[in-house]
Amino acid sequence: MSSSSFLFLIQICVIMLCSCSMEARRSHNIILGSTLSSFGPQTSWLSPSGDFAFGFHPVVDNRRFLLAIWFDKTDPKTVVWSAEAERSVTGEATLELKTDGRLVLTDAQNRVLWNTTGVSDDVSHAAMLDDGNFVLAGPDGSLRWQSFEHPTDTLLPGQSLLPGNKLQSMDTGKSDKRFELLLDINGSNLSLYAITLQSDTSYGFYWSVNTSNATQLCFQQSGLRLVQMNESVINITSPSTETETDKVYQRATLGDDGVFRHYVHPKNKATMGWKTVAFVPEEICQSVFTYGSGICGFNSYCKRDNENVECKCPPQFSYFDHNRTFGGCKQDFSSQSCNVDESSMFELQAMVNVDWPLSAYDHFQPMKEEDCKEVCLIDCLCAAVIFWNSTGDCWKKRHPMSNGRSGGFVDRTAYIKIPKGEEEGEGEGEGGSSLAVVATSWGYVMPQIVVPNAKK
Ligand SMILES: *[C@@H]1O[C@H](CO)[C@@H](O)[C@H](O)[C@H]1NC(C)=O
Ligand SMILES: *[C@@H]1O[C@H](CO)[C@@H](O)[C@H](O)[C@H]1NC(C)=O
Ligand SMILES: *[C@@H]1O[C@H](CO)[C@@H](O)[C@H](O)[C@H]1NC(C)=O
Ligand SMILES: *[C@@H]1O[C@H](CO)[C@@H](O)[C@H](O)[C@H]1NC(C)=O
Ligand SMILES: *[C@@H]1O[C@H](CO)[C@@H](O)[C@H](O)[C@H]1NC(C)=O
Ligand SMILES: *[C@@H]1O[C@H](CO)[C@@H](O)[C@H](O)[C@H]1NC(C)=O
Ligand SMILES: *[C@@H]1O[C@H](CO)[C@@H](O)[C@H](O)[C@H]1NC(C)=O
Ligand SMILES: *[C@@H]1O[C@H](CO)[C@@H](O)[C@H](O)[C@H]1NC(C)=O
Ligand SMILES: *[C@@H]1O[C@H](CO)[C@@H](O)[C@H](O)[C@H]1NC(C)=O
Repeated sequence: MSSSSFLFLIQICVIMLCSCSMEARRSHNIILGSTLSSFGPQTSWLSPSGDFAFGFHPVVDNRRFLLAIWFDKTDPKTVVWSAEAERSVTGEATLELKTDGRLVLTDAQNRVLWNTTGVSDDVSHAAMLDDGNFVLAGPDGSLRWQSFEHPTDTLLPGQSLLPGNKLQSMDTGKSDKRFELLLDINGSNLSLYAITLQSDTSYGFYWSVNTSNATQLCFQQSGLRLVQMNESVINITSPSTETETDKVYQRATLGDDGVFRHYVHPKNKATMGWKTVAFVPEEICQSVFTYGSGICGFNSYCKRDNENVECKCPPQFSYFDHNRTFGGCKQDFSSQSCNVDESSMFELQAMVNVDWPLSAYDHFQPMKEEDCKEVCLIDCLCAAVIFWNSTGDCWKKRHPMSNGRSGGFVDRTAYIKIPKGEEEGEGEGEGGSSLAVVATSWGYVMPQIVVPNAKK
């Protein structure tokens, strides 16, 4: 412990009810002029207990860094906050607590990448607190800036989300944020939205709770609660006995799969991993959006197994990017020609309880199952048909298909068109094939079928 650090008492009363613990908290002060560098010697500041650290967190290849807060005693260390703007910093970067009280992140060329703005100039010190809050405080210990008021994808116990604030899912490395949890500015609802950052567009919500003038979403030991103006409380997650102990770390994170989960991690077992104790929404795969690809990427489909959500590829399709399985799937064969009759070279493979709703380009009813397959086979534009046997509905689909989903709630069968004579191959994410990625044209005018023969 450096001799310059001393104990300072900080009164925390972030917001009434949620974390208004009246006890003062211990902290090691970080004095004005202190610096961290991504290449050391000092890369982070620890909380007094050592549970949390603030500083440069390496990502992927150890050559890029996030300015972040993380659980320092879990293995791997788990990031709970990161600075906006540049998601990750390449090479040498420096963080300084300036004498004017601003925290400023600069790159090797001394360009400002990020800073705390709107902070009054009487900041006297900073501190990484034991609850995971990194704060800038005035001489009297009152807070001028705190990471708890700028959440990224995670809430920690004692932290709350106020009306107008949101969590956004992270995809470390890429700056994709596909989902957000927003407490409406008027406190009239708490909702999960599918978003795109390309144009500030929301595709729509896929989970929502109506409230009457909610004042905050509060994360307590026992779970997530919406506190309303008249002080009545709505439980977002049901109370769990596993969380009513100080022997576990806890966090609530909006995952890059769109699920908001409450996790626990035993404090004394670093490699135990995080366990989900509650999550919303229960059935994310049922979500359907008019535009965009849906919860999963184009041509893939969503599958849930308890709290785990996967995006899977149909047979003879593979992920565009194996590291981002929600990014969609491409077909590994050439499409059926529209110049010559190739219908005898293709077949339709059944996928039970799978559907790509919306965006059918043709529909027949009533129709027999065999006829439904046949109308697709002889149509070079047809990528798949969906058959609903209880009504005899038959829908024709073309690429790219969206809102793909599977599960017991889907009482339909998808028939996907693939080249005949291929080894029966499951799609990616089905735990089966390792089809090589074959570059193919998306056009349907192809003189011959390129057989993806590069199987391992
Ligand atoms: C600090 O950041 C804000 C936006 O985050 C930016 O507008 C401002 O210019 C930055 N300040 C400096 C001194 O770079
Ligand atoms: C919030 O309430 C005000 C006043 O009732 C209303 O004008 C405004 O449109 C509401 N905002 C949203 C986002 O609903
Ligand atoms: C939430 O409430 C606002 C009005 O404040 C409304 O505009 C919005 O559609 C509501 N969202 C959901 C998902 O109900
Ligand atoms: C929530 O409120 C909106 C109107 O703001 C209403 O359309 C919707 O049906 C309500 N949802 C539930 C689940 O009550
Ligand atoms: C919310 O608060 C506003 C003003 O405080 C009040 O007029 C309104 O009736 C409240 N709405 C509900 C549903 O309690
Ligand atoms: C608070 O408001 C909600 C919705 O209007 C109502 O259902 C609940 O009974 C109220 N609670 C109290 C304690 O007044
Ligand atoms: C909501 O959570 C509180 C605190 O854990 C608990 O006392 C209460 O019984 C819960 N209410 C419901 C309806 O589950
Ligand atoms: C996927 O991740 C692995 C290991 O993290 C990396 O070596 C590889 O380059 C990544 N592939 C792509 C396409 O980003
Ligand atoms: C639809 O298929 C299911 C499962 O194959 C079968 O049990 C059911 O009898 C079929 N319904 C009709 C109307 O054919």
